[in-house]
Amino acid sequence: MLSNYIDLEKGILENYTENVIRRASDMLNFYQDNEALEKMIKNGNPTIYEVYAVTHEGGGELSYAITILHPGKVGNEYFMTKGHYHEKRDRGELYIGLKGNGLLLMQKGEEIRWIEMERGKIVYVPPYFAHRSINTGNGNFVFLAIYPGDAGHDYGSIAEKGFAKIVIEENGNYAVKDNPRWK
Ligand code: 6PG
Ligand code: NI
Repeated sequence: MLSNYIDLEKGILENYTENVIRRASDMLNFYQDNEALEKMIKNGNPTIYEVYAVTHEGGGELSYAITILHPGKVGNEYFMTKGHYHEKRDRGELYIGLKGNGLLLMQKGEEIRWIEMERGKIVYVPPYFAHRSINTGNGNFVFLAIYPGDAGHDYGSIAEKGFAKIVIEENGNYAVKDNPRWK
């Protein structure tokens, strides 16, 4: 498929070839406050984020995906994606903010960075950096990601240790704090 459309107001991608919906129950152990997460699962198990992708899997090809990250918190921690390294570690990525407000957290070894995202902002995720998005706003946070077709997703080490930082709400604003579970 050589052309396609995104509804920029709603963040809806037409003609997607893959999609993933992650609910609270798919995020066990990703948040600090497991009790708050359990409660949320019992009270309707809300969707945390949705991904709609057009994939072309060969090396040299490009894939793209829209992520709709819903607003909310687990305890005082904002809704976020699982986060991953690319299976092929040397594959970079571009993120383009379409709607709402968020943070892009990136980590390579001990080096950690976070960049605010908003509509119209382009962020480059260099090769070797794990990346996670966080919705720090009150509405949906929507972004477009463009990545090499053969990048792949490696969730293992993030699922185990998380990132070195967590993003919480403090007095109505976001605050980036050390992750107590990070070693
Ligand atoms: C990718 C992108 C992006 C990401 C989603 C969901 O490599 O495909 O980084 O589309 O996958 O925002 O985040 P998780 O893959 O970490 O659940
Ligand atoms: Ni990625």
